[in-house]
Amino acid sequence: MQLEYILKSYARYAPVYDQTFGWLLSFRGRSMAAGVTNKRPGKVLEVGVGTGISLSYYRREHEIHGIDISPDMLARAQKRVNKRKLTHVSNLSIMDAQEMDYDDGSFDAVVAAYVMSVVPEPQRVIQEIERVCKPGGDVVIVNHFTAEKGFRRNFEAMLAPLSNKLGWRPDMPVEEILGNTALREVRRYTLPPLGMFTLLHLKKDY
Ligand SMILES: C[S@@+](CC[C@H](N)C(=O)[O-])C[C@H]1O[C@@H](n2cnc3c(N)ncnc32)[C@H](O)[C@@H]1O
Repeated sequence: MQLEYILKSYARYAPVYDQTFGWLLSFRGRSMAAGVTNKRPGKVLEVGVGTGISLSYYRREHEIHGIDISPDMLARAQKRVNKRKLTHVSNLSIMDAQEMDYDDGSFDAVVAAYVMSVVPEPQRVIQEIERVCKPGGDVVIVNHFTAEKGFRRNFEAMLAPLSNKLGWRPDMPVEEILGNTALREVRRYTLPPLGMFTLLHLKKDY
């Protein structure tokens, strides 16, 4: 995935995102991800916040920060915040998740929903997420990971050369996240439709 393709793709998707991908990806992943953070109020970072479709799932006692590389997607998120008076959203910033401007241990929880397959270097993103999360904090990743074997695996491998055109990588193994972080896996949930998505709840123990 190359940055210029990502910016171009999301400039195109932004006006129709909520009615297309936003809707297609709406099977529980976002509400469950916010649910993990909602157990206690805190400072929460949403990475790749997009049009802000998840923002209303977070409890109002949180202080929510959102970042995204696409100004077009973020402009939609800001509109949503203003229109729905989402006062728990403290800040929305254009920022590369591979190189965040935040200090170490800035957030009680970090969420990245449907982002890891879209960024050029997901290993850098998970390392940045780990860095900006406080000790004892929670990390939630929702993503499509490639199947281990079978028809789906073959189909995903066939689609892989089209990644730049699709705007996401269909063949990303979960090890690309878990193998590049010291975050501990707390729980893994398989999500609809057809078990194609996974929610990883991770914890920073140190
Ligand atoms: C599929 S959308 C998901 C948006 C939102 N999380 C949701 O649930 O609908 C992926 C988002 O990741 C953003 N993104 C891609 N690369 C990024 C990067 N390097 N840093 C921050 N955001 C990035 C895109 O601009 C886009 O808004």
